[in-house]
Amino acid sequence: MNTNQFGKKGWTPDRIEKLYGKTYVITGTTSGTGFEAAKILLSKGARVVMLNRNPKKAENTIAMLKQEMGNDIDVINLQMDLSMQVSVKKAAAEVLKTVSQIDALICNAAIAQVPKQTLTIDGWESQMGTNYFGNWTLQALLFPLIEKSKGRIVTVGSMGYDMGIKTIKFEDLNWDKDYTPNNAYSQSKLAQIMSMYELQDRLKAAEKTEVKAYACHPGSSRTNLINTSGSFMMKFIFNLMKLSPLTQSAEKGAYPQLMCATEPNLDQSGFYGPTGRSNWVGPVGAHKIEPHAKDKAVAKRLWKISEKETGVKWNI
Ligand SMILES: NC(=O)c1ccc[n+]([C@@H]2O[C@H](COP(=O)([O-])OP(=O)(O)OC[C@H]3O[C@@H](n4cnc5c(N)ncnc54)[C@H](OP(=O)(O)O)[C@@H]3O)[C@@H](O)[C@H]2O)c1
Repeated sequence: MNTNQFGKKGWTPDRIEKLYGKTYVITGTTSGTGFEAAKILLSKGARVVMLNRNPKKAENTIAMLKQEMGNDIDVINLQMDLSMQVSVKKAAAEVLKTVSQIDALICNAAIAQVPKQTLTIDGWESQMGTNYFGNWTLQALLFPLIEKSKGRIVTVGSMGYDMGIKTIKFEDLNWDKDYTPNNAYSQSKLAQIMSMYELQDRLKAAEKTEVKAYACHPGSSRTNLINTSGSFMMKFIFNLMKLSPLTQSAEKGAYPQLMCATEPNLDQSGFYGPTGRSNWVGPVGAHKIEPHAKDKAVAKRLWKISEKETGVKWNI
């Protein structure tokens, strides 16, 4: 029986209406799913504010998009290194100075499978610091404008949320003991997803239900992810996998985040991604999420610790 609410083919960008007058802020658009998502948003007439760490790469990305889509596309880049709180704070301030509305903040950028334990300049394990604490601060600082815009926060997680220790290692957040690339990446992705469901509850309690928060993932998509930060062996394995039907294009990998950013009346309790084999490929829609991702006690503790670690509180 087909249970996908969008039919047999699942959600596709054909469902997006024209987006003139709407503004999307998206992180990590120099390659992969972020690039494809930005391109589709621009093709629908949206204004896109890209947040990237490498200005030269971002400049090339914009030049490439303009060459393909014409000079009239409404796109800018602001520099932001998600692994540095000072840079995230500066970028958030720039965004607030530059735009008067945010219809959705799409938190797409990430690093993965870092071979050896590495700490960010703020002292966190690199994947936790970049993928989780970086996004925490960005989201919290942009929240007032997202609220004013009745906008959305979209977090790009990973099926990795279910491939590590399946909880947060509060007693050793930095993996000083027993670091493995997969456990540390999986924890960062689990934390990202958990914080979205916890945010939903907090918004509801504060009767701020016009702001929506979503968790999604791109399945297994042919992008630069492992090539950027993975070990030689992981790169070898993933590049072999890219040749198999167990992976899909980066464009398809962008559909879940686009759906969460634009689809009207989308249920926030869902976890969105490919619904085919292992949730790596296939039609996009809601699919099962394991209970540990919605463990209330863990999520509350994570929220508290995030406020303490970053010194950044949400104004909910
Ligand atoms: N591909 C998959 O199969 C897969 C599976 C599960 C989840 N995901 C998730 O999908 C999302 C997109 O990844 P992708 O697969 O498209 O990978 P990608 O091609 O490597 O793209 C990642 C983007 O994030 C940027 N980025 C990395 N570190 C950053 C930092 N410190 N500050 C700002 N930007 C930074 C990269 O910029 P640079 O160009 O400067 O490196 C790039 O633009 C990630 O959240 C990832 O965890 C991907």
